[in-house]
Amino acid sequence: AVERTLSIIKPDAVAKNVIGKIISRFEDAGLAVVAGRMMQLSREQAEGFYAVHRERPFFGELVSFMISGPVFVQVLEGDNAIAKNRDLMGATDPKKADPGTIRADFADSIDANAVHGSDSAENAAIEIDYFFKPEEVTVRR
Ligand code: CMP
Repeated sequence: AVERTLSIIKPDAVAKNVIGKIISRFEDAGLAVVAGRMMQLSREQAEGFYAVHRERPFFGELVSFMISGPVFVQVLEGDNAIAKNRDLMGATDPKKADPGTIRADFADSIDANAVHGSDSAENAAIEIDYFFKPEEVTVRR
């Protein structure tokens, strides 16, 4: 089924100037960018986005990293987009990511891991809504 998922190109990948290379991975796999923008997250925005991780030991470092520079937030659309995006990203820890995945090729550490992607349909809806108004998500034709 055609799905939408939220993808974030994180500050490490933006600083490496590989936004285009990462988006090409998505496009080459049949996903399309239907919304997107560069933004500098505020601490409040980053904390709110990652609220489910608030009690985790890595929360502070995660938030600090996510506000360390601009990010590219986008909505990807396509067949099976949520799982497909996660396959393309590879494991959260780049040391464990399969060869050829985005994190294996562009990420440096579990925090500076190049990309975020929604992990379920429920979270995809919540995360898309967190960054985009409905009218900012375009309809493909
Ligand atoms: P992300 O998919 O953006 O979701 C939460 C982020 O927390 C994750 O990617 C990692 O960058 C970061 N993180 C840091 N430490 C851990 C950990 N031990 N387990 C999971 N995520 C972690």
